[in-house]
Amino acid sequence: MPRSPYHLPGQHIASASPQPSLAAREQESRVHLFLVGAGPVGLVTAVGFARLGHHVTVSDIDARRIATLAAGRSPIFEPGLEEALRAETAAGRMDFTVDPTPPVGSAFSIVCVGTPTDASGPLSTAQVESVVSALLAVAPPEHVVAVRSTLPVEGPERLSRLVIERRVAGPCPSVVTNPEFMREGAGLRDFDVPSRVVTGWLFPEDREAAQAVADLYGPLNAPVLVADARSVALIKLASNVFLATKIAFANELARICDATGADVDLVTAGVGMDDRIGKAFLSAGPGIGGSCLPEQTVALPLLSARLGIPTPLIDAVSRSNVSHQQAVVGRLGALLGEPLGGARVALLGLAFKAGTDDVRESPALAIARELHAAGTSVSGYDPRAADTAHRADASLEIAPDPVSAARDAAAVVIATEWPEFRSVDWGAMRAAMRGDLVYDTRNVVDRSAVAAAGLRLEILGRRV
Ligand code: UDX
Repeated sequence: MPRSPYHLPGQHIASASPQPSLAAREQESRVHLFLVGAGPVGLVTAVGFARLGHHVTVSDIDARRIATLAAGRSPIFEPGLEEALRAETAAGRMDFTVDPTPPVGSAFSIVCVGTPTDASGPLSTAQVESVVSALLAVAPPEHVVAVRSTLPVEGPERLSRLVIERRVAGPCPSVVTNPEFMREGAGLRDFDVPSRVVTGWLFPEDREAAQAVADLYGPLNAPVLVADARSVALIKLASNVFLATKIAFANELARICDATGADVDLVTAGVGMDDRIGKAFLSAGPGIGGSCLPEQTVALPLLSARLGIPTPLIDAVSRSNVSHQQAVVGRLGALLGEPLGGARVALLGLAFKAGTDDVRESPALAIARELHAAGTSVSGYDPRAADTAHRADASLEIAPDPVSAARDAAAVVIATEWPEFRSVDWGAMRAAMRGDLVYDTRNVVDRSAVAAAGLRLEILGRRV
């Protein structure tokens, strides 16, 4: 049987010799991966693969980041990541480098560099293209390059062009795509228990390479889908835009609940009992944030506009989110019963959700901006995201603890569902505040503790 250049060592090898032991087989199925891009996706992916027994060399052009990793620290906050990085490095399954060249013997490169919004629009492929070109120039033809970065739908076309250009000079590595579906704050769990593993081929002859990348996740026993890379890019975008649609739907329902006296948690619980709808991602809050969902609710309508395809439903999701954030501020003003201009508001939670120090597209910062525009003075507190919030918006006053944030405030707004907001000392908050309103947009506070402190609690979409 001819040996495929893409098989994992130890698989599909016909042999007359006795079967190797389980331990020996596991040893054989371990491969050396070269992973480019030590951001949140790259580091979680690297640790996930190392824990499956693969050896992972992590490369990044940011020498400070690599030095931090080599010193046993994580440059980003993700629950469990630093401990896992240390354990895998100590076990000899991870190492770090600024060298952009795949180590000799590495079978796969996993590209996890960013596709940020830039002058060319959302999901710019500039960094991905530059890394893939460099890998195509130096890696041997049997090497497989897997792009895990989120791509626009035209991304595969651009990667195909790079491969075609390189093939003029002779055989070169296969390039496949492998989008991630990992949430920040739950990244390690989402790697370990994926809903699915999806890989995409640029050219039909690279199907086997795409399957080989899917096989790297084999021990996770996840459902696998191998398809053309265009469909795969759309799977990733459509998944995130659909999730955003569910949340936006719940957020609009929450406002209807506020106006009618219904409770959005009961409504979404009842709606979600229908298996065709499901209850996940129907939790109403202050809006959709993070690096993926907001960006992709803009990227998909831009694509359909370019194609001349009317997609009024898809186009509305981003607008719904912006209008929801404005409505949250409007509701705060109505509850306050005094002009927002000149008032002082404490914002508890700045991260876009709990479990991360990421403030990209954070609804908390959008609310702060709206309040500033209305002439409100805002003091923010976050247990993890104070530094990132300050870097993102230097005009935001950051307090070291909730009580300091509440000093002289007419109202306290809970914007992130940090578990520690359940045990805030509301007596001390009451003493520090000038007013008595607590507006919880995440349904996280201890209702009886707020009431016992003599404060007035309002919860977005819920009845107290
Ligand atoms: C998302 C996708 O979930 C993940 O599959 C993808 O690979 C990366 O993008 P992430 O950006 O970490 O993950 O955030 P996510 O957990 O999806 O939350 C996005 C936003 O929606 C947050 O602001 C969150 O607070 C909000 N949200 C989420 C709600 O308001 N209600 C919900 O029910 C769920």
